[in-house]
Formats: sequence, structure tokens, C-alpha cells
Amino acid sequence: MTLLDGKSLSAMIEEDLHKQISSLAAQGITPGLAVILVGDNPASCAYVQMKAKACKRVGIYSVTHEMPNTITQEELLSTIAMLNQNPNIDGILVQLPLPTHIQSAKVLEAIHPQKDVDGFHPFNIGRLSVNLDTFVPATPLGVMNLLKHYHIDVSGKDVVIVGMSNIVGKPLCALMLNAGASVSCCHILTRDVSAYTKNADIVCVGVGKPNLITQDMIKQGAIVIDIGINRLESGALVGDVDFSNVAPKCSFITPVPGGVGPMTIATLLQNTYKAALYRLEQRTKI
Ligand code: GUN
Repeated sequence: MTLLDGKSLSAMIEEDLHKQISSLAAQGITPGLAVILVGDNPASCAYVQMKAKACKRVGIYSVTHEMPNTITQEELLSTIAMLNQNPNIDGILVQLPLPTHIQSAKVLEAIHPQKDVDGFHPFNIGRLSVNLDTFVPATPLGVMNLLKHYHIDVSGKDVVIVGMSNIVGKPLCALMLNAGASVSCCHILTRDVSAYTKNADIVCVGVGKPNLITQDMIKQGAIVIDIGINRLESGALVGDVDFSNVAPKCSFITPVPGGVGPMTIATLLQNTYKAALYRLEQRTKI
């Protein structure tokens, strides 16, 4: 069994990015990321803080717009409109989830597609689904890059994805399909998840339920990607996989923490750098 070490790979990605961003800065462009955080959800606050710290490490300018839970949709939309116009901001990210009185879809659609470093705008989702170059959501792209780094070719493999969120499961399905995998998508209404996972070469799970995937659900030699992140009452961070019992059956498995999580952050940084390259492209066109 080999651990898919996202912590080490993300450190290498950050090192490369730091160099690329320094050379972009020498051309007068410092990539800029604006993060919008609404409310005080502890997990969201922690993620936003991690993103800001990572930006700093690689030389991305980042600004966090902290807004109260009571903010109106109009106020949020006008902040986004302002950021769309700001030439020093290449990427805009609205941390999810948003309070229930706000229509997330409307907010995400207001972000200019060329600044949509989360890849959540329907324009970019559409491009992903037809395999065109676009911003791809950070977590699923991080998973693909982690597999690639370990020379795991998904082409022709039976892949099962458990959890069909817009942020992870659905875009991961598209990426896997684009890469030539045969993909099954399991979700809350799937009657027998284990009937799918038992036959899978690769199982990816991201639903937020500790120990959802047990060793009897996995075939010998399978690859398991744990995208879940759960904090137990003890304070321990665990994924969705019963790691100690599943790992011995696997050829490869991601640890939690230190697997997909760091890859998500590294990929967001890569997306922000990509957005800054658009600025360079536009400047050289003039
Ligand atoms: N909430 C949980 N994951 C994410 C993510 O990748 N991006 C944003 N914007 N919000 C999230």
C-alpha cells in the first residue's frame, strides 16, 4: 500500500508557483485573489485563513472581505461587481456555504468567468463538461493531479464517486470521464453504494461521514481517494474512510489529513496564477 502524499506534492507545487509568480512580478503583475467570507462558520473561517496564508507563501496578494451573516444578496452582488472591475484582482472566491437567505447560484453567476478561480460559474462548468480549457474546481482537479503525480492512469478504469456535490463530486465525474474512466456516481438516493464500490478500481468519496467506507466495500488492490474532512468530538480530523481497516487492502490511498486537503489549496493557487496570466495576455494584446 502506498500513501498518496498530498502534503509533499502541494509543497512542490507551491515551490514551483513561487518561482513562476516571482517572474510574473518582474513583469509588473502580482496575482491578486479576493475572498468573500460571509458569517462566522468556523470551518469556513479556518479554510479562508488557510487560503490567505498559502497565498502569502507563494507571493499572491490576497484580500478577504468579511461580511456579516445579515448581509443582503444585493450588497454581496455589488461587492462582486466591484471586484470584477478591479484590475488588481485576478481571482474572486466566495466561500461556501452562504446563508440560506442568499441564492448561491445567483452569487456564483455574478463572478466574471475569467476571474472564477473556483470554477463554479456555469460558463466554466459547461466548458469542463465538453473538455475545454477552463477553471476547474480546486478539490477535484487536485485529486486528478495527485493521481497523475503517482503515474496512476484512470483511462479505462472503473471509477466510483460517492457524493455528488457541485463543488467536488460532479466536477470530479466530468474530469474522470474526460480522462477516459468509466464513471459511476453514487449519492444520497443510491440504494446500494457497496454494490458499486466493491467492483471499483478507484473509489473517491466526499460526503462528510466518518467511516462511511469500510473494508468490506473495497476490492483488494483498489485505489481509495478520501475527500471527506470531519472533526470528531475528540478533536481528531478524519475523512470518510475507515482508514485503518481499508488501507491494508488498497494499492494506493490518501491519508486525512495530508491527502486531498493540501492539494485543494495548492490548486486554488495554481488557478489564481492562471487567472493572472490572462491579465498578462490582455496587456500584451493592447
Ligand atoms: N466550501 C467548501 N469547499 C469550498 C471550495 O472549494 N470553494 C469555496 N468557495 N467554498 C468551499
